[in-house]
Amino acid sequence: MTLDLNFVRNQFPALAGDFIFMDNAGGSQAAKSVAERINDYLLNSNVQLGASYEISRIATARVNEAPQMTAQFINAKDPSEIIIGPSTTLLIRLIASSLSQSILKSGDEIIVTNCDHEANIGAWNELQKNGIIIKRWKLNPETFRLEIEDLLKLLTEKTKLVAVTHTSNILGTLNPIKQFAKIVHSYGSLICVDGVAHAPHRMIDVQDTDVDFFAFSFYKVFGPHLAMVYGKKELLLKMPGICHFFVQQDNIPYKFQPGSPNYELSYGLLGIQDYFNSFAEAHNFRGKSFRENTAFVYNIISDYEEKLAEKLVGYLNTKRNVKIIGETSFDKKKRVPTISFVVKDKTSDSVTLLIDKEKIGIRYGDFYARRLIDDLGLSSKNGVVRVSLLHYNTMDEVDKLIGAFEKIL
Ligand SMILES: Cc1ncc(COP(=O)(O)O)c(C=O)c1O
Repeated sequence: MTLDLNFVRNQFPALAGDFIFMDNAGGSQAAKSVAERINDYLLNSNVQLGASYEISRIATARVNEAPQMTAQFINAKDPSEIIIGPSTTLLIRLIASSLSQSILKSGDEIIVTNCDHEANIGAWNELQKNGIIIKRWKLNPETFRLEIEDLLKLLTEKTKLVAVTHTSNILGTLNPIKQFAKIVHSYGSLICVDGVAHAPHRMIDVQDTDVDFFAFSFYKVFGPHLAMVYGKKELLLKMPGICHFFVQQDNIPYKFQPGSPNYELSYGLLGIQDYFNSFAEAHNFRGKSFRENTAFVYNIISDYEEKLAEKLVGYLNTKRNVKIIGETSFDKKKRVPTISFVVKDKTSDSVTLLIDKEKIGIRYGDFYARRLIDDLGLSSKNGVVRVSLLHYNTMDEVDKLIGAFEKIL
């Protein structure tokens, strides 16, 4: 089944202009259905939740739909395992801090990588103040992969948590998270996965991969500026919350969501569900559930994105002065279309600034994966040039980008 690009692009009003969006790993465009839900909430049900009057009951039901939809989206057993908050960075901080007051103790070891976004490194580094020992799992700079044999050298009976990305926001490489989780669990340790760069491209299944914590940001998955972290129920119940004294410890996720969460954006999340459902329908698929539709949609978009990657990676591989930082393959089993590279004798900013003139939005820098860029010796280049594609990009757009690169590379 091929992707109906006309249908897709019509769902994103921002794509109607002549600007080409290729900084999607920074943030995707929002689906029209998301904006409509936010609008509807603010104009028709903008009252405080939890009261007995009719509109408040409607508003409460609307906001409560967000964790239910998210639980299906990631295949969590229960919506109470979904904590919604403003950003992945803040939510991982919350998990780290709460674990340090419960499950973790001085002398325990945590393994972090050198290729994660700082959100899944810094939060754990902080715990050194409490006597936690941090070990570093470094990427193999030849293969640009996190090697399992290197992880095995770091794991001990003192390891209590491994923090690792599902997909690097620079390399685009898919990590075998299910395999990582199995190994990590065999040492009695937990695993916390950053799924931010993964979620826009592949279906998430927290039960199948058996991860303990999993975070991603909705603003990269066609939604509003909100994020979520999943935690296994038995863990969340043991971890202290940050809410008022009268909010019981078994009240999850509420004990982790103090104050009034962003109601309109929470309701806006349902627009992501609308988008996936209407996508499936437009491609003549009517699954029995949102989850079934999600599986169908991700299958189509990953096939299509592989073709986009084939074109761009294929082009970059022909350039002798270009080094791809990550997989040099376009194979969808190995990577997503987040493609980074450096150019011999040119800094990454100088390349990107010329592309800006063509009304194409790409980006250079370290993308907050500062340790990766430092360890690969790419700071002096001002990081990498990153082109991050989504299924709403067209072959024609990739051709235009290649045409623009041709003038420079
Ligand atoms: C891989 C990855 N992890 C975490 C984050 C941080 O997300 P947030 O802005 O929601 O904190 C980003 C943002 O770019 C990211 O790309």
